[in-house]
Order: sequence, then structure tokens, then C-alpha cells
Amino acid sequence: MTRAKRRRYDLVHRLGIEPTIAVRLKATLGPAVDAAAARSPGNVTVLDAGCGRTSPLISFRDRIDRFVGVDIHAPATPLPYLDEFATVDLCGDGASFPEGSFDLVLSNFTVEHFAEPATALTNLYRWLRPGGTLVITTVNRRHPFVAAYLGFPDGARRRLQPLIKETAADAHPLVGRCNDPEAVAATLADAGFERIELETVGNLARAWGRRLPTFALGLAGDLIAQGSPSRRSTILAVARKPGA
Ligand SMILES: C[S@@+](CC[C@H](N)C(=O)[O-])C[C@H]1O[C@@H](n2cnc3c(N)ncnc32)[C@H](O)[C@@H]1O
Repeated sequence: MTRAKRRRYDLVHRLGIEPTIAVRLKATLGPAVDAAAARSPGNVTVLDAGCGRTSPLISFRDRIDRFVGVDIHAPATPLPYLDEFATVDLCGDGASFPEGSFDLVLSNFTVEHFAEPATALTNLYRWLRPGGTLVITTVNRRHPFVAAYLGFPDGARRRLQPLIKETAADAHPLVGRCNDPEAVAATLADAGFERIELETVGNLARAWGRRLPTFALGLAGDLIAQGSPSRRSTILAVARKPGA
């Protein structure tokens, strides 16, 4: 992280826009990996669905026996932390893995890109073992800045994305079809999940923190939604497949 970016993050911290999505994810994934280890000792099998180039699950790598990543795009270079990678369209027919393959599935900042989110979440449900856990994060359209960003015509958004994203490889087409807390909860329930828990975190300053003007806009966005949980920019959802 550059010094300028660290200073910006410190300011976000001082303004009390906490916890970060990274902190919340870590606190969520740790117990989920532990539960998987208790259920499948010596055979903890985990999927990062839409893995991109890195995964918050790397922190738990030593507790994962088989770590699989899938993405619609093959990575430019192999991902050393994975045991297997497969190119998979999560919105496709679901035949990529047998039913009940994984103890834990993470899909981190992916749902906003899905053309068919209901199909994708149904596939993830199918690939989970009974009693398994799904963790997803995505953006929240109830935040006015997120709604505006998702609402831009594709061409305008494509021109904006390089201002915000680290590299062109991080600028994926956005759909935003299942991007508010109610839609996420309802789509998870329709897929068959139960014990669905949702929380929201302000993440715009960090997500847009690469340049000072977009950082300032993101910071303003986080501050205006800080007192309204249903409008914070980022949704973290945890859901379980019923069963053993
Ligand atoms: C914002 S990136 C997040 C990457 C990674 N999960 C992370 O946390 O850094 C979104 C990822 O979802 C992938 N993606 C988008 N639509 C997909 C689909 N239908 N099937 C599989 N992967 C998809 C993109 O290729 C991209 O790698």
C-alpha cells in the first residue's frame, strides 16, 4: 500500500468508519472454516467462486485441505494458493461440480457482476454439502452513490472505472441485478438457504481510495450512510444449506 493510501485509510479509521469489510470477512470466515474442520476433519474443501486474483481465504489456507477457485476468466498467471482452478460461468448450468462438493463457499464482490444471480446462488447451494456455509459480499444499491454508479450507461461507467480500479483487469462488467439487502436475502432464500444473516459496512472510501478525488467522494458517501445500516455501501451475507 502506498503512503498516500495508508494516510487515507488512517483518516477513514479516525472518522470511525469501521469495521472494514476485510475485518468483518475475516471474523466471518474464521469460524466458518473451523465449523468445516469440525464437520469434515482432514477433508476441508473450500470454493472461492469468482476468485479473481486473490482471496480473503488465503489467511486460512493452512486449515483448508482442498482449495478450489473458479472464475469466468482464467487468471493471467497461476494462483499459487489454490489447489485447483477452473474456468466456470457461475450463471451457467451448474454441472461444473457434483452436488455437495464443498464445506464452505465464498463469493467475494461478485454478485453485482452476475447476469443471472438466482442461477449463480442456486449453483452455489447445489455445490455445498448439507450443513455447509456460503459467504458473499456485494455492493448495496440502497446507497445513493452505488445506485448512481450502477445506473450509469455502460460506456460512461467504463470510462470511470479506471479512476477507481487498480488495473483494467479489475474493471468487470457490472449488472447489479441483486444488489440490495432485501434482494440478496430473498434470492438466497429462494435458492434454498436458511439461517441467512446480513450486515452492511461502509466501504466506498476504501474501494475508491486510489485517487484523492474519488477517495473524498467515497468518504462523503460512507459518512452520509454511516447512521443508516440499510444504506451502507457493502453487503456481507452468510447463509447455510440445511442438513447435517
Ligand atoms: C470484483 S472481482 C472480485 C474478485 C475476487 N473475488 C476478489 O475478492 O478480489 C469480480 C470477479 O467475479 C468474476 N465473475 C464475474 N461474473 C462471473 C461469472 N458469471 N462467473 C464466474 N466469475 C464471474 C470476475 O471475473 C471477477 O474476477
